[in-house]
Amino acid sequence: MVRLRKSEWTLLVLVFVYSFIPTFGGLIRVLELAGGPQIAPENSRALLAPTPIMLHILGSFLFCIVGALQFLPSIRRQSPVAHRTIGRVIAVAGCVAALSGLWMTHSYVFPEALQGAALYWMRMVMGTAMVGFIVCGVIAIRSRKVFQHSASMLRAYAIGQGASTQAVLGIAWIIAVGSEAMGPLRDGLMIFAWVLNLMVAEFLIRSMLRSAKRPHKKWSLPTIPPSTQRNET
Ligand code: HEM
Repeated sequence: MVRLRKSEWTLLVLVFVYSFIPTFGGLIRVLELAGGPQIAPENSRALLAPTPIMLHILGSFLFCIVGALQFLPSIRRQSPVAHRTIGRVIAVAGCVAALSGLWMTHSYVFPEALQGAALYWMRMVMGTAMVGFIVCGVIAIRSRKVFQHSASMLRAYAIGQGASTQAVLGIAWIIAVGSEAMGPLRDGLMIFAWVLNLMVAEFLIRSMLRSAKRPHKKWSLPTIPPSTQRNET
């Protein structure tokens, strides 16, 4: 049985609250498309082509919510097998989320108010980068490069959590201005959310590196316990 520290429970609750709108809100869309009542605002693109958006929401849910467990040192140290098993599921879920996101970006017909050229290209770049980082993270851990693995997965997670930051910025905009951002302004806010998340990820990666280099460091880079250093990953 894995015992989590208080700070890890706090992190989990924060991630849960921060991701609530796109992840649990998304599940409402999945229920609707599976024949349930319409609660979320109508999305004609989803009604016309429901499969990619359902895959997208389910993949994103797993990646953002279950994926948070992967950053908890207690799970990595006390149950490396759990970290590996969850990791495999999350890697697939993240790729499904990003690839279906790319598919929708390119194939759904968006009004200019919901996706201009800037957002189209940013989504194409971010979706591709998210798959790229997940693949790099998997390759890195298979070569026992633990720091590169952590850094790549953190970058992929930052892109995935872009949806949460977009929701927070969108709500903050409505509170501040009194109306929903649309058109180039909306595109700008969505792009800014991804830039912000990646900046936070780079900051965390650099602090991880600095802290690992300190002689009397408070915590160290994640290591692979010798007993599990086999071709399990
Ligand atoms: C992994 C974290 C992500 C989460 C939690 C998430 C969440 C969602 C949700 C809930 C929807 C449905 C919106 C609705 O019901 O109207 C959606 C749609 C969409 N997402 Fe994501 N998403 C994520 C990542 C991405 C990425 C990386 C891309 C870019 C490739 C992307 C592109 C899209 C597109 C194009 C749509 C369709 C929007 C529409 O039809 O209005 N998403 N996403």
